[in-house]
Amino acid sequence: MVDHPEKSAPGVTLDWTGLRPEVAGTEQGLDDNAISAMRHEALRVWADLQARQGRGADFLGFLDLPGTMLAEVSRLQATADRLAALGDRHIVLGIGGSYLGAAALVQALGHPWRQELDREARSGRPRLLFEGNNLDPRSLDGLLALMPTTRPGNVAEDVTVNVISKSGTTLETAVAYRMVRERMRAVYGDEAASRIVATTDPASGLLRAQVEAEGLESWVIPPDVGGRYSVFSAVGLLPAAIAGIDVRALLEGARSVALYSPVDPMDHPALLHAVLQVLSRRAGRHLSVLSCWGRALEGIGGWVDQLVSESLGKEGGGRVPLTMVNTRDLHARGQQIQEGAPNAVVSHLRVAHWAPDPVVPVAPPDRDALDYVAGRSLGEMLDMARRGTSQAWHAAGRPSMTWTLPTLDAFHLGQFLYTCELSTVLEGWLEGINPLDQPGVEAYKNYMFGLLGRPDKAEWAARIEAASSIPSRLVALPGA
Ligand code: PA5
Repeated sequence: MVDHPEKSAPGVTLDWTGLRPEVAGTEQGLDDNAISAMRHEALRVWADLQARQGRGADFLGFLDLPGTMLAEVSRLQATADRLAALGDRHIVLGIGGSYLGAAALVQALGHPWRQELDREARSGRPRLLFEGNNLDPRSLDGLLALMPTTRPGNVAEDVTVNVISKSGTTLETAVAYRMVRERMRAVYGDEAASRIVATTDPASGLLRAQVEAEGLESWVIPPDVGGRYSVFSAVGLLPAAIAGIDVRALLEGARSVALYSPVDPMDHPALLHAVLQVLSRRAGRHLSVLSCWGRALEGIGGWVDQLVSESLGKEGGGRVPLTMVNTRDLHARGQQIQEGAPNAVVSHLRVAHWAPDPVVPVAPPDRDALDYVAGRSLGEMLDMARRGTSQAWHAAGRPSMTWTLPTLDAFHLGQFLYTCELSTVLEGWLEGINPLDQPGVEAYKNYMFGLLGRPDKAEWAARIEAASSIPSRLVALPGA
């Protein structure tokens, strides 16, 4: 076990007081009767999870990752250290589940301005550059411009690459990899292979074939783990370890949730959260807002957005997730939640104790009239803002619940992310859908591949041709 300072203190908590009628208003609130009415259904899906049965159960391999990957940490750390020593720019190529988890971990647990720090201040860990998650011409062009064109001979300009794709056929990632790989070959020749690592399916796919043909070091995404449930595999862990994040503590946090088995399953935050979301949606709250208190949590919001959208948005249903970062977005979405259509349930995500936590100084003669907050820390002020916001929303009949991470560290982040994964599966089963597949994301790919001329997708191009015979309706502004 990781020697965690707060082992006896509670870990991550879920407080749902703000959903109750006495807080959010009798019309809006969820009472104990509503929860009790779902108890039978909830216990059934909980039992299904324990027995690993239910729709999509073939993809429940993520449940085992905290345990299996703990056994791999030393090996993973060795790869991370090797790559970190080889260059100060590490390019991570991947999209969706092969991107968002790693990006969230680095944003939450890394220095907020880590790309600005010199290598020593980053403890010898490289800058991370995430690409292959778009077909954005400027972004890829800009990345190629940052890469050397001749062998640098100094670690500050040297580059390493991690290409992550379970299928190996994802266009955004594959195209970016082709361009980056060709540059790596041009710059490093035969040595390029030792600077590239791939994370992919253990046996199948075009990326696996390239690994074998080119002798690349590779890491595995287990076949029974879906992309958006892969953050505790090498997909999320390797980039995090390269950035210097304590992946052992992250896995320990996740494992503590995997092993947690309260006497009453309804006391498990994953199950209770699933029930609360389903009840909220059934009460007409189709929008679920993750209200992140602190910029470091924004990437977690992006990861949750994907987990919820791809897992639950199917068969004509599912809640619509949305991320806010506060206090920034109080100056935007705050208005909508306060007074707009009452169709949202808010989940706050907060950190109880920030470290470091700067304090507002006394600054005579107080021309900016801020002495009333002198001596207060930013973390304290952020929490006052959260409490004030919750109160304002509750008074307007806008319900909310609150996730609290005692501190923003790897252990508690591991707890939170794993809880979200469990809860999403349980919620999907409560909704009667398969939360572990994503048939809907294939549709756009078929049309796109057809238009791009992929031989096996020709019929999709023909469908677009047929649709384009419909006359356009278009208006225009004057040209320059
Ligand atoms: O959650 C998912 O399954 C998807 O978001 C995938 O992670 C994403 O499409 C990338 O797929 P791949 O890893 O095959 O490139």
